[in-house]
Amino acid sequence: MPESNPDLDQLIRQVQTLAKYSRVSTELIRSLLIRELAKRPNPKEAVKAVRSKLHQVGTAYQEKPLPYGAWSEELAALPADLHDPKVLAFLQHVLPAHSSTRERMPILPTFFTECLAGLGDINSVLDIACGLNPLAIPWMPLKPGCTYTACDIFSDMIDFINIFFEHFQLNGQALLTDVTREIPPIEVDLVLILKTIPCLEQMDKETGQRLLTGLAAPNLLVSFPARSLGGKSKGMVRHYEQHFHELVAGRAWRITRFEFPGELAFLVQK
Ligand SMILES: C[S@@+](CC[C@H](N)C(=O)[O-])C[C@H]1O[C@@H](n2cnc3c(N)ncnc32)[C@H](O)[C@@H]1O
Repeated sequence: MPESNPDLDQLIRQVQTLAKYSRVSTELIRSLLIRELAKRPNPKEAVKAVRSKLHQVGTAYQEKPLPYGAWSEELAALPADLHDPKVLAFLQHVLPAHSSTRERMPILPTFFTECLAGLGDINSVLDIACGLNPLAIPWMPLKPGCTYTACDIFSDMIDFINIFFEHFQLNGQALLTDVTREIPPIEVDLVLILKTIPCLEQMDKETGQRLLTGLAAPNLLVSFPARSLGGKSKGMVRHYEQHFHELVAGRAWRITRFEFPGELAFLVQK
């Protein structure tokens, strides 16, 4: 290995020595490090830049390490009926731990039913950069037995979502996947790309375009935050609406717009 090309595995471990990055996908850290080292050969600075990027796209949405161990124990003691009041209370307690689902809590009873009304049977879903959103399945109008595939970059989050799927015997699978590099090659009725395009575009500017044009599913529900993490709206609806229209310009797709407090959504039908 040339002098200026440091041992990547060691740098990956260095990024992961901070607890909040210890469960981030190693492959994502590797690709970010390669990119940063190409810009700045100083390994210390590259590690710092990668940590900063991981904060921006991942840990900023979780104020503290999430207590997946304790949640798994609580889950194990719950009935296996997803609509049992004790289960719904548990999920309503867990969902706000991720800021994206916390912001969606006030609109959860109507968000999915309104956006997905009229789609007919939904037998399969792909949830891109899912956060804790799969735990909102009881509020989604899905056909019983629906397959649900979810992707994110935190291995502990992915493990917990799989425990959730297993406990309720859902036809689900959570995958540790950097969606800027790969998308599970599956055919689904519906793809969820919720509040995530601005986040992914901080890693790769072309991701939003690639997802919208590359995903062959007949229905995509795409949403954008209408408030910043700090709670300010700062013209975000106008800004993201314009960005979305740039992404779909020239396409003969049917677009339906929904505006909720805190979230702007578009149903794209191809
Ligand atoms: C703004 S949150 C949206 C979460 C979820 N879609 C929702 O609306 O509830 C962005 C999510 O993208 C995930 N993420 C960031 N970069 C990613 C990548 N390259 N591949 C997959 N997921 C990623 C983060 O961990 C975070 O959970």
